[in-house]
This record gives sequence, C-alpha cells and structure tokens, in this order.
Amino acid sequence: MTAPQRKNQVMLSAVQPSNKLTIGNYLGALKNWVHHQNDFDCWFFAVNLHAITVRQDPKELREQTYRAVATYIAAGIQPENATLFVQSQVPEHAELAWILNCYSYMGELSRMTQFKDKSQKAGENIPVGLFTYPVLMASDILLYDTDLVPVGADQKQHIELTRDLAIRMNNLYGEDLFKVPQPMIPPVGAKIMSLQEPTAKMSKSDPDPNASVFLSDSDDQIRKKIKRAVTDSGSEIADDDSKPGVKNLLTIQSAITGKSIAEIVTSYTGKQYGHLKGDTAELVVQAVSPLRNEADRLYQERQFLEQVLAQGAQKARERASQTLKRCYDRIGLLR
Ligand code: TYM
Repeated sequence: MTAPQRKNQVMLSAVQPSNKLTIGNYLGALKNWVHHQNDFDCWFFAVNLHAITVRQDPKELREQTYRAVATYIAAGIQPENATLFVQSQVPEHAELAWILNCYSYMGELSRMTQFKDKSQKAGENIPVGLFTYPVLMASDILLYDTDLVPVGADQKQHIELTRDLAIRMNNLYGEDLFKVPQPMIPPVGAKIMSLQEPTAKMSKSDPDPNASVFLSDSDDQIRKKIKRAVTDSGSEIADDDSKPGVKNLLTIQSAITGKSIAEIVTSYTGKQYGHLKGDTAELVVQAVSPLRNEADRLYQERQFLEQVLAQGAQKARERASQTLKRCYDRIGLLR
C-alpha cells in the first residue's frame, strides 16, 4: 500500500496515566506509534478514565496525565501529525461505553486475563469498572473508525473483544455501523518482562521499583536496575526459555537496536552475564536519557500542553460525536 492510501487509515492507541511509563510501554507501544505517525491518520491519548479502575491520588493522576502526554511528544509524536488528547475531555467515550455495556456478556468479560489478574489484587471489593474496563477500551477504539491499534501483547485479548462487539453490533444494526479494527503487535518487544521476576510482565504498577525501568529514571537508576536484574545461576548467554532473565535483556537490546536476537547472541560468544547487563544498561540509557530530558522540559510547559490537548479534544469530539450519533440513530435512542 502506498503512503497516501494508508494515510486514510486510522491508527489509534493509548496508555493509562496510572503511574510513570516504563520501557515496556515504550518498546511495546510508543516506539511503534512514532514509527507509523506519518503513514496513518493517528489518534493517541491518555486513558485517565481507565486509570481510575484502581484508586488514584487526584493530584498524582492529574500530573501523570500531563506527564504521559509530554512523554508522547518527547518520544517523537508530533502534535501536527497526530491528534493528542485526554480521554476524560471527550465525553463520547463514556457514552458509547454505556451502550456497548448493554451488548457485552458477563461470560466474555469474565474470561479477560487482565481482569482475572487485577481483580485478584483488588481484595474483597472488586470495582465494577475493572470488569467493564475492556468495554470502555472498545468504545475508545470504535468511536474513531479505527483500522489499526498498535499495542503490546497483553492488549490483544481486549482488541479481540472489541472486534467481537463491533461485529455483533454490525449484525444487529447494519454492517457499516462500526469499523472492525486489527491489533498491531511488534515482532520483538511486545512483552518486556519484569527485571526482578522475568516470568512476569514489566508493569507500571509493580510495587517493586527495581522491577521496571521508568522513562523518568535517571541514568544511574537505569544502570543500577539493569545490573541488579535477575538472571540465573548459569553463565551462557543464549536465547533460551529456561533463561527468562537473559532472554529479556536480549529482547530489550533487540527492540532498541533493531538487530535480531540471534545476531546479538552471537556477539556474546565467550562473554559473561556482566557484559550483557552492562551493554543493555548503556543501550537503555541512550534510548531513555534524551526522551526523559525532553519530557521533563515539556512537562513544565503547561500552557503548550494544554493548548495541544484542547485542540486535540476538539478534533476528537468532532469525530467521536459523529460515530455516537450514528449509533444512537441505529439503536433508536432520541438525541
Ligand atoms: P497500559 O497503560 O497498560 O499500557 C500501554 C501500552 O503499553 C503496552 N505494554 C507493554 N508492552 C510490552 N511490554 C510490557 N511489559 C508492556 N506493558 C504495557 C500495552 O500493551 C499498551 O499497548 N488498556 C490499555 C490502554 C487502552 C488502550 C485503549 C490501548 C485503553 N484504551 C485503546 C489501545 C487502544 C492499557 O492498559 O495499556
């Protein structure tokens, strides 16, 4: 497909501003957004309504939302190329989510692995929002007639549910009601693992700060965290499932440099884990350091960020309200 043809296609994605972003968010999602921003009609936002499915401190939530948007721009997203906004500034997201809730089944939502994980951690009182979280995500995607959703592997199931809901609604109310989206998952970096427990995903909300490299970490913090990363008792550097810690560091290198894992493994013949950790740390520092410095600068430019977001929200509302009107009319809701 040529570039101008693809520009007609919609690419959309988002991150929860529930904490500082990690290199998992960067390598699994954000890097791909930057890579494709000139080829598609792009919509990127911060999903703060999703973030409140677990308790957030109001001041922190507000600040992390600005920080997330500053990070998108620092990573290379150009506000002239992509529409940037915040979910709570576009009320159509919550409105369509209600409608989709009425067409979603308890059974299918109960099968979502992210719900199973998060509800286990929620204790006795599991917020209903945690259960209907993927329905709000479906609303985010369907409002913009999205073709492609660049995300990490953990979101694939949610996009499959979005597709099921779109098809279900189209069967009931007409084929052209919703566009059926596709996930776009990078071949390397789609699941960066915790540095402390390399069989689990690196997560913003991990209580152990050594488990994740945050995009706001200092160079020293990054070096320390990677040098402390859990590997195993052996010494051979191999792409082997029985060595998840080593494999994770190889994956991080591959996702940053674009070199294949096989090529990286060959370059370590006869070398020790210490070399692998040292080199990985330097590559991560090189990737994160300029991004962090620029995000720090932009984060202070509140007026600029607010202006970008106001323009983005206006554009988003124009598009989203058209889809919502179409949906109201088909269903028989007065407006
Ligand atoms: P969130 O905020 O958990 O993560 C944001 C993006 O980062 C990816 N990701 C990872 N990729 C690789 N390795 C990791 N360890 C890792 N951790 C996170 C996620 O796959 C995601 O792409 N539900 C979404 C946010 C959302 C959304 C949307 C995304 C809401 N509405 C509409 C796309 C379209 C989420 O919680 O992402």
